[in-house]
Amino acid sequence: MHTHPETAIILGSGLGKLVDEITDKYEINYTDIPHFPVSTVEGHSGKLIFGKLGDKDIMAMQGRFHFYEGYSMKEVTFPVRVMRELGIKTLFVSNAAGGMNPDFEIGDLMIITDHINFFPEHPLRGKNIKYGPRFPDMSEAYNKELIRKANEIAAEKGIKVQHGIYIGTQGPTYETPAEYKMFRILGADAVGMSTVPEVIVANHCGIRVFGISVITDLGVEGKIVEVTHEDVQKAADQAQPLMTTIMRELINRA
Ligand code: HPA
Repeated sequence: MHTHPETAIILGSGLGKLVDEITDKYEINYTDIPHFPVSTVEGHSGKLIFGKLGDKDIMAMQGRFHFYEGYSMKEVTFPVRVMRELGIKTLFVSNAAGGMNPDFEIGDLMIITDHINFFPEHPLRGKNIKYGPRFPDMSEAYNKELIRKANEIAAEKGIKVQHGIYIGTQGPTYETPAEYKMFRILGADAVGMSTVPEVIVANHCGIRVFGISVITDLGVEGKIVEVTHEDVQKAADQAQPLMTTIMRELINRA
């Protein structure tokens, strides 16, 4: 392997097209990495992909681990610690999310400005691993400079972006109308079942983070309809090119 990436990406389900743009690929199956969790649910094992995106060395996770699948928080976030060991400095994450901000529409991109950890277990629970302090600061969990650059890129390209707070919850149910309302009252703009654990561990070990949610359904009073995984995938797929454009540009400028 001839790459020494300082940039990693973890893309949400239905949002993985950027990985196809990686050239000079070198792939390692999760099953070949000691202690790495192994994807059981999707039937095929995931992999780490190393290569180039534009002229940036990059590392991508193909296949992410969700708490609702039954993995422990340690397993869900283990890949981020592997990134830290490999010298990753910046992590780009994306996800599909339900929008609770009444100004949001399906298909919107939301640059994540902050998050609320609503998972029932904390990924840093237990003996502190000396990647970082016992009580990590979270005052800038999503790097402001990267958000500024992303805004610039969106403006240049004429891509509409929203900004907001992502609340991470365990799933696997989507929310009841009362739960969407509660999350809105708590101060969140979008809700999803991923990202927060990885972002916490990234912050703990000094990796800066940029994140985008793709709004795939609405948890806005009066606009709530039945939501299926297929609807979510379809909305994610349609918004994917714009998300990919912002990520690609940002990665190359960051
Ligand atoms: N809730 C939780 N997770 C989600 C949603 C949602 O509405 N949409 C996509 N992922």
